[in-house]
Amino acid sequence: MLAGGRATRLSPASRATSKQLMHVYDKPLVYYPITTLIHARIHEILIISTPDQLPLFEHLLGDGSQWGCRFEYAAQPEPNGIAAAFLIGAEFIGDDDVALILGDNIFYGSGLGEQLQAYTSPVGAVVFGLWVPDPERYGVLELGPGGEVVAIHEKPLVAPSNYMIPGLYFYDNSVVEVARNITPSARGELEISEVNSHYLREGKLDVSRLPFSTEWFDVGTFDALLDAQNWVGGQQHRKGLLIGAPETAAHREGFISTEQLQLLAAAPDQGEDLMKSGYGEQLLRFLEFEAGERFVAEEDASP
Ligand code: G1P
Repeated sequence: MLAGGRATRLSPASRATSKQLMHVYDKPLVYYPITTLIHARIHEILIISTPDQLPLFEHLLGDGSQWGCRFEYAAQPEPNGIAAAFLIGAEFIGDDDVALILGDNIFYGSGLGEQLQAYTSPVGAVVFGLWVPDPERYGVLELGPGGEVVAIHEKPLVAPSNYMIPGLYFYDNSVVEVARNITPSARGELEISEVNSHYLREGKLDVSRLPFSTEWFDVGTFDALLDAQNWVGGQQHRKGLLIGAPETAAHREGFISTEQLQLLAAAPDQGEDLMKSGYGEQLLRFLEFEAGERFVAEEDASP
């Protein structure tokens, strides 16, 4: 997970803290992409940030064991591009396949976790295409007459389609070598769109369409942050359940037991503050929700 950058578009709010540590409604922004990875059943996560912010991430997230994960940390001293994550993380990746998520991207959708789980052992690369009204701000797909992807453009002046590539990518192990061989763009960055273009040219890029109903936020500006805050708050009020909570995701995906979740919500040593804010109570409520789901499932199964 890449959580670096200087977040100048959020200045002065970002002067003394990292964007990914700011809160989106009730939890730090970084919780949301971690939750997405947990729903993809990924539990070994390298968190990359600037050298000065890294200790703060470590303080917040620890070694990940509280959520049944293993977190490691690495510094990106210069903002030299998203694809640099594969060079920084080469040792961590080892011989494995790898996913990359941007620390300021929030994904939410029914069945999204299952969709993602299908992509964790790709041949080549899997990226997503999502319809947005302002594609020129992102990596954009150029589509041929049959809807096939013919090219990828990073922040083009005029977007060739409305389909952008959001910040969640799956690769086989070859990505480390691919990232080593791309050249920096005009703005001096190793662009993720370059990496994806390489796989496209090789015929090894699978572009999967995210359902139109998928909620996605790139929280990079004041308005985007406010939109995300309002959306999360509104959803949580209406549903009475947390969105983007690593604790409940970890329980859902079998990373932690019911007892462990109860402890996270209410243990005096670490969970006391969570009960005070109401977050702990919401974690416990999730267990009631799941118990209800089991009841419904059993009803369905009966003749
Ligand atoms: C980056 C990528 C872009 C991608 C976007 C998703 O842009 O370069 O291809 O579509 O993330 O959030 P940035 O946020 O660095 O401007």
